[in-house]
Amino acid sequence: MSDELKNKLKNNLYEKRYIHSLGVAEEAKRLAVIYGADEEKAYIAGLLHDCAKKFTPDEQLDVCKKLGVELDEYAKLCIPIVHSFLGVEIARTEYGINDVEILNAIKYHTVGRAGMTLLEKIIYIADITEAGRDFEGVDELRRLVNKDLTAAIIKSVEFELKRNSQRQSIIHPNMIYMWNDIVLNRD
Ligand SMILES: [Fe+2]
Ligand SMILES: [Fe+2]
Repeated sequence: MSDELKNKLKNNLYEKRYIHSLGVAEEAKRLAVIYGADEEKAYIAGLLHDCAKKFTPDEQLDVCKKLGVELDEYAKLCIPIVHSFLGVEIARTEYGINDVEILNAIKYHTVGRAGMTLLEKIIYIADITEAGRDFEGVDELRRLVNKDLTAAIIKSVEFELKRNSQRQSIIHPNMIYMWNDIVLNRD
């Protein structure tokens, strides 16, 4: 199944984005082995998490309207996260994915939510720690993710909240809910 998905995705995305998607799929599968999640679902969700990026940001808003994808007031103001909500519909209609766990992992890969499933957490962090990523702090996250998934997510959300507040940009409420939930419930 994943070969078919890969071919289609390759035709739809720019090369750089396609390579990133392969990296997330590999990283997600690797983490699924470590943490006991479904490896195939992790691979497919990783592969398709950015499938809506075949559209430009402006197009994404238009396609959301056309397909009836509802965006909350914050998502409408925060264009870089729109592709995760639209991605659910694209994965469903263009790639034939009906598995709710995979679709939710795509949906929550940008801002998370409270009560994330193991698969959702894996895709969230795999997007950040995949082999092609290069930013300050990525090595620390890669070290953490191999031994403590929760600690890696807390650290990556800490980076993200810091970045957003330094830029004085909007922080989607889901990210705050995710942060509180994970910090309150860590072991
Ligand atoms: Fe994304
Ligand atoms: Fe991504």
